[in-house]
Amino acid sequence: MKVLLVGSGGREHALAWKLSQAPKLEELHAAPGNPGIAALGTCHPVHAEDGEALLALAGSLATDLVVVGPDAPLVAGVADELRQAGVPVFGPSRGAARIEGSKSFAKEVMRAAGVPTAEPLSVARPPCVIKADGLAAGKGVFVCRDQEEIDIALRAAATLSDSILVEELLEGEEISIFALCDGARAFALPAAQDFKRAEEGDAGPNTGGMGSYSPVRGFGLAEIEGLLDAIHRPVLDELAVRGTPFVGVLYAGLMLTDDGPQVLEFNCRFGDPEAQSLLPLLEGDLLGAMTAATAGGLLSADLTATKNAAVTVVLAAEDYPGGVDVGSPIEGIESAEAAGTLVFHAGTALKGDRLVTNGGRILNVTATGDTVADARERAYAACEGISFPGMRYRRDIAAMAAHV
Ligand code: AMP
Ligand code: GLY
Repeated sequence: MKVLLVGSGGREHALAWKLSQAPKLEELHAAPGNPGIAALGTCHPVHAEDGEALLALAGSLATDLVVVGPDAPLVAGVADELRQAGVPVFGPSRGAARIEGSKSFAKEVMRAAGVPTAEPLSVARPPCVIKADGLAAGKGVFVCRDQEEIDIALRAAATLSDSILVEELLEGEEISIFALCDGARAFALPAAQDFKRAEEGDAGPNTGGMGSYSPVRGFGLAEIEGLLDAIHRPVLDELAVRGTPFVGVLYAGLMLTDDGPQVLEFNCRFGDPEAQSLLPLLEGDLLGAMTAATAGGLLSADLTATKNAAVTVVLAAEDYPGGVDVGSPIEGIESAEAAGTLVFHAGTALKGDRLVTNGGRILNVTATGDTVADARERAYAACEGISFPGMRYRRDIAAMAAHV
C-alpha cells in the first residue's frame, strides 16, 4: 500500500514510525512531514491544510490511504475534499470533526447522547472554567478560582473567539481514552495521561502537552471497554444519526471525579504527545486496522497492547508556550537512539545538513520498559544526552505513576 501521512509534528513522526512496520506498506509519503519522518519516507512540501494540493499529491502518488494526523486539516474539511474525489481517508469529515472544532457542538452531542460532562453555567462565578469556542491549541481554556481570574480569562478568551462557554469546575485526575472508529464501531487503544502545564508540579500556562505516559494504572482493557460503552459509542451513534459518522481516532479527555468519569473535551485525532507513548506499546498491524476502519469494517483488529509501559518527555524551546526557537543546532539524537530510545521530531528543520530547532515543542523522547518507572528512567537518561540552546523540559513527567 501507498500511504500519505498528513502533518509534521511528533505525533505524525510516531505514526510514521508505527506505519513503517506494517507488512503491507510499500511507500510512505508525508505532507509536509519533518526531518524525522524523512528518514522513514518521502516528504513533500505541501501544507497540511491545503486540501487541493493534498488531493493533487494523493492523485500523483496513486495513494491507497491518506492518514490525517492533526486536528486543523480535519476541522477545515480536508478529509471531505479527498473522500469526494474517491481517495480513502483515515480521519473524520468536517461535520464529524466538529466534536473537537466546536465546544458548543460537542456539548450538544454529549447532551443528546447522555454522556456525562461538566454542567454549563449561565454566568461566570468562581470556581468555574471559561473556554473560548473553536481550536486554540490547548490555550483557550481558563480555570478560574476567584473573580480576578475570571476577569483575566474573559478578556483573554474574547481575543480568541466570539463565542465563550462557562462551565462548572471539575476536580480529579485526567486521563485520555482513545478509540479507532469506523463510523459505527469503536476499538479500544491503551489509556494515557499527558501533562499539559508548562512547569513542574502542574504549574504555569497550559501547553499542547509537555509529556505523557501509557498505560494508566487501573485502566486495563476491561475498564477502557466500559468507558467506550459509556462515552465513545453513544457519541458515535449520535454522530451517525446526525449524518456525520466518525471515522478516525476519537479521543476523550476525561476527568475522574468523585461522581465518576466526566468528559472535559473530545478530540478528533490522536493526542500529541500521547500518541508517542501509546503507539510504541501496540503490537500488530496499525495500517490494517486503519484501512478496515476507513472502509467501515472494523469488526476486529490485529492490534494488542504489550505489557510494557512507555514515557515521553517533550524537549521544548526556552520560550514555549509563549514563543518558538528557530535555527539553533540540535546535538545528541544519535546517541539517544543508539541507546534504544525513540526520538520523535516535533519542531525541527534542516539547515544544510544540520538539524536545527524550528518551533515550540522541538523533540519528543520516548522510552519503553517493563514498568513506568523503568521507562521513565530510560527516557530521562536519554534527555540528558540531547541538547540545543535554551532546551527545557519538565523533570516530573510520570513521576507519580512511577512511584505507586
Ligand atoms: P480542554 O481543551 O477542554 O480539554 O481543556 C484543557 C484543559 O483544561 C483540560 O485538560 C483540563 O485540565 C482543563 N479543563 C477543561 N475543562 C475543565 C473543567 N470543566 N474542570 C476542570 N478543568 C477543566
Ligand atoms: N495532548 C493533548 C492533545 O493532543 O490535545
